[in-house]
Amino acid sequence: MAALVLPSLFCLFFFFFLFVLHRIFRKLSSSSFPSSLRKLPLPPGSLGWPYIGETFQLYSQNPNVFFASKQKRYGSIFKTHVLGCPCVMISSPEAAKFVLVTQSHLFKPTFPASKERMLGPEALFFHQGDYHNKLRKLVLRAFMPDAIKNIVPQVEKLALGSLRSWDTAQFINTFQEMKTYAFNVAVLSILGKDEILYREELRSCYYVLEKGYNSMPINLPGTLFNKSMKARKELAQILARILCSRRQRKEECYDLLASFMGDSEALTDEQITDNIIGVIFAARDTTASVLTWILKYLGENPSILQAVTEEQEFILKKKCGEEKLLNWSDTKKMPITSRVIQETLRVASILSFTFREAVEDVEYQGYLIPKGWKVLPLFRNIHHSPDIFPDPEKFDPSRFEVAPKPNTYMPFGNGTHACPGNELAKLEILVLLHHLTTKYRWSMVGTQTGIQYGPFALPQNGLPIRLSLKTTSPAPAK
Ligand code: HEM
Repeated sequence: MAALVLPSLFCLFFFFFLFVLHRIFRKLSSSSFPSSLRKLPLPPGSLGWPYIGETFQLYSQNPNVFFASKQKRYGSIFKTHVLGCPCVMISSPEAAKFVLVTQSHLFKPTFPASKERMLGPEALFFHQGDYHNKLRKLVLRAFMPDAIKNIVPQVEKLALGSLRSWDTAQFINTFQEMKTYAFNVAVLSILGKDEILYREELRSCYYVLEKGYNSMPINLPGTLFNKSMKARKELAQILARILCSRRQRKEECYDLLASFMGDSEALTDEQITDNIIGVIFAARDTTASVLTWILKYLGENPSILQAVTEEQEFILKKKCGEEKLLNWSDTKKMPITSRVIQETLRVASILSFTFREAVEDVEYQGYLIPKGWKVLPLFRNIHHSPDIFPDPEKFDPSRFEVAPKPNTYMPFGNGTHACPGNELAKLEILVLLHHLTTKYRWSMVGTQTGIQYGPFALPQNGLPIRLSLKTTSPAPAK
């Protein structure tokens, strides 16, 4: 009996020993084990109070004042602790390039889990590596100049439709109206000519979804978050119908949906849905905020508005009959208007920073960036550095007559996650400005000095304006 039991016990102990060894080895080899870099100092700065860190300091003032004062005190790399997370903030072009471009594999995109749930966890901006590369290729295919040049007439139709709907109103909320325009263009770029069929139902669901986007993530009946999640489900159902109809029709299409549905891509319906909802999210408020700022800056700078108007009238005058419609090459002959867009993107820096998370301990300029810490490249600080852009608060589009130095100008981000929709954004802005400046005049309602964040920087109250056709008497001044 003992002869039978002893070898079994020995085997048992042996396997237990192997199991323990395996666990120890895993623990040692996992990067949670402090790396040799842990002896390096952390960047200068303060982590504030336990857990709450410096969150109150960040939100009790304009966040950009917080970032700027920290940079002044500690330099272009500093640590802080906000929203429950230890962070390293960076504000030099070199550091931004390190995080976003050359060492981007060491820094993954990071979003709160509730945002991922709401937009869809398969959306490209939550990922890195092979899946992200594959999706990015598909998105870029649909938004590169060769693809979007074909939709200029439809974009123009949407711009004209928006402007017509505004000129009858007593006054409009610029941001709200620009959101509708940017939404319609985004849906056009995703669904092509099917846009018109689904635009309204997609918009009403999206409207509910966005209301809960910045709410507390409490999924109980009646909460904004709960309503948002329901709207998200509805959006997924509408998109399922669209997918089904596309598959039945088997038509040749060249929009983003077609790019996602390509046979060789083998994306699941869920992946397609998450990415479509994600692209609309990335496309709408960003473009709408920039358009709103442009109207504000042009309104405040009459000589620049005059130069833009003359450039656009010149393009219009050279056209006759059917030809009056804009085409892609016209949009490439708008250097003054394009510089206004560039300067607006710089001064307003609507995405004043982005978030990454260190996937392992990283050394940067002799400092440790510990694994798991958030890393925030501060685009706005770079765009407002007087060493890079002299007199940075001044709205001066002529500064872009000379191209900015590499990595100093990143309104569309940089590197692996840089904005694939930037050409479309510029196109829709140029088309709207062409018709706005040649046919309309506008004036701001009330004094407009404040900035609000929601989450993008925006003129106070979304910039209410009065708009009128140029053939009628000028809009009354403020
Ligand atoms: C003026 C308007 C816009 C601005 C300022 C803007 C800005 C940005 C920035 C800064 C990023 C990079 C974020 C990061 O690195 O974390 C980004 C990413 C992205 N943008 Fe835009 N964007 C605009 C319009 C658009 C439009 C019109 C679309 C689509 C039609 C779009 C689609 C995307 C997507 C899908 C990503 C994620 C890319 C990735 O993770 O690989 N954006 N955008």
